[in-house]
Amino acid sequence: MFLRSIFLLLLLSFCFVTVQSQCSKGCDALASYYVQEGVTLTSIAQKLESSLVDPSDVDFKVILSYNKNITNKDSIPAGIRINVPFPCGCINGEFLAHVFDYNLTSGDTYDKIAKTDYVNLTTPEWLRSVNSYDANRIPDSGTLNVTVNCSCGNSRVSKKYGLFVTYPLRPEDSLASIATSTNLEQSLLQSYNPGVNFSQGSGLVFIPGLDENGVYPALELSSTGISGGVIGGICVAAVAAVALVAVCVYFVFYRKDKVKGGTPLVTLSQDLSAQAGPDKPLGSLGPAAGASTGLKGITVDKSVEFSHEELAKATDNFSMANKIGEGGFGSVYYAELRGEKAAIKKMDMQASREFLAELKVLTHVHHLNLVRLIGYCVEGSLFLVYEYIENGNLSQHLRGSGRDPLPWSSRVQIALDSARGLEYIHEHTVPVYIHRDIKSANILIDKNFHAKVADFGLTKLTEVGSASLPTRLVGTFGYMPPEYAQYGDVSPKIDVYAFGVVLYELISAKEAIVKQNGSDAESKGLVGLFEEVLNLPDPSKDLRKLVDPRLGDNYPLDSVLKMAQLAKVCTQEYPQLRPSMRSIVVALMTLSSTTEDWDVGSFYENHALVNLMSGR
Ligand SMILES: Nc1ncnc2c1ncn2[C@@H]1O[C@H](COP(=O)(O)OP(=O)(O)OP(=O)(O)O)[C@@H](O)[C@H]1O
Ligand SMILES: *[C@@H]1O[C@H](CO)[C@@H](O)[C@H](O)[C@H]1NC(C)=O
Ligand SMILES: *[C@@H]1O[C@H](CO)[C@@H](O)[C@H](O)[C@H]1NC(C)=O
Repeated sequence: MFLRSIFLLLLLSFCFVTVQSQCSKGCDALASYYVQEGVTLTSIAQKLESSLVDPSDVDFKVILSYNKNITNKDSIPAGIRINVPFPCGCINGEFLAHVFDYNLTSGDTYDKIAKTDYVNLTTPEWLRSVNSYDANRIPDSGTLNVTVNCSCGNSRVSKKYGLFVTYPLRPEDSLASIATSTNLEQSLLQSYNPGVNFSQGSGLVFIPGLDENGVYPALELSSTGISGGVIGGICVAAVAAVALVAVCVYFVFYRKDKVKGGTPLVTLSQDLSAQAGPDKPLGSLGPAAGASTGLKGITVDKSVEFSHEELAKATDNFSMANKIGEGGFGSVYYAELRGEKAAIKKMDMQASREFLAELKVLTHVHHLNLVRLIGYCVEGSLFLVYEYIENGNLSQHLRGSGRDPLPWSSRVQIALDSARGLEYIHEHTVPVYIHRDIKSANILIDKNFHAKVADFGLTKLTEVGSASLPTRLVGTFGYMPPEYAQYGDVSPKIDVYAFGVVLYELISAKEAIVKQNGSDAESKGLVGLFEEVLNLPDPSKDLRKLVDPRLGDNYPLDSVLKMAQLAKVCTQEYPQLRPSMRSIVVALMTLSSTTEDWDVGSFYENHALVNLMSGR
């Protein structure tokens, strides 16, 4: 027992060090696209459509500026490589990559998409791990997340290079050939990709790239976000890595031998992959990555069914001291379960057989902006075990006492995170889900002030449970759109409406239903309150009065106005006029990256939204 605690401590402290080495900011990057027979710039641009390749750039000026060797844009010889710019983002503080949306057609497989459509810029395994579809059950339509890794450089290797090409190795490549073609030292290339054999014929390497002026741009330290302290962290992490592997191996075997019936909630291979820093070649297949690949086999089973005994023990017998919340369906308890923090929801109902099947599906839906369902228990009543989110819910942050006011930038981030979570359940899961109870109490905030949507999929519980009764209206007043409150019409647009109300809450910190003069008789919806102001010819002055007073003057009015206008289109009376979560994600990405040159027009596929937002 003592020994086990020591190892846990060691593991935790090492993992703490490695957390520091994860990324904080992104940069621009290039993707090396190997041209096959019949490929045109149009098809490449469509596939790698990204904010750096403006769709209206019909002459491909941007792509061509990075590829001075292409003289005739209409006929590209097969067998050459083209560098296509794309944004390299820090995905939830964990690794550097860009997520492209791929439209599925029948017959698609992870293998085909990775190797043919994305010309080995990603791998089938990596696609599988960032999508929820089983490899044999990829639907014929909808979209798939195609995650392409990238690099923003490494100040320890050199400060002279700040733009990197994600380069899939091909059989004809070697360290010498790439060094010759890029005019760079072999040792430099190798340092950026430690342990990688450039002649291995496959796998990704990151090599310095030329910018649109044909020069190697230098590393901008601010854009990589690697501070001195973090570099220290990386170094310690590197030294610790060997020890960590040893400890983890020992830990796994120790647990395997000595602990019966208890498996860690997280697989150790996940912890190990977190050890790769932002500037390590994350995708390398060489011995450097071997440490984690070698261990992949020891993935501990993620068990999803817990015994009542185990849950009772983990919550101190569901003690009041462990209770952290109360919702419409039951109470929520803090638990320490198999060495992990968890939140256990004790539901006031039993699970039907149908819902049990549903639960199994829900435990497989993984997204960084969704609170993960780890497992459940059906002894006595129904218990749902979720990952624990440290920092409370959004409602508490906006209106609770004893918390610092959220700065404007965090509010924009929280809006974007929640939008991403919702977009995921609307468009990327099988089956797709409609949340039906989006509200600030269901948006949880983690320690880094990122948001995760809680409770999705639960409406199915009430639906199935009362099949003979007329469908119960699930939802919360103030967040329900008219077509749902009046006729019970259900579509993803009811979540869009509720999300719009949450945006108004982020701006004003007011509740969805505002009691005026302290009386119920005069209560008013947040939607109506904002609409009165937004319909004024010049809303700026009155809008300021609605902004959360705790923000003081610390907010860009322009950005607030944009968010309010977005909330307004989300809460339109007619569901058809409300944008999709997908367009909302794009709008919020723009809002969060550039508040000043927020160019709505070039980003929307949804023209109604463009017109509304530009006041046409
Ligand atoms: N995974 C979790 N981690 C940390 N706290 C949680 C977690 N899940 C829920 N909570 C806390 O418990 C509270 C109650 O949660 P719950 O989802 O049961 O109710 P609700 O969201 O307020 O209402 P409803 O049941 O109508 O959705 C949440 O608002 C949150 O503060
Ligand atoms: C991708 O890699 C596989 C081998 O891993 C190879 O057969 C295939 O031709 C490659 N595709 C491209 C477009 O280079
Ligand atoms: C991309 O990076 C992640 C995170 O480090 C890694 O697990 C994954 O294998 C990489 N994918 C590819 C295709 O290199």
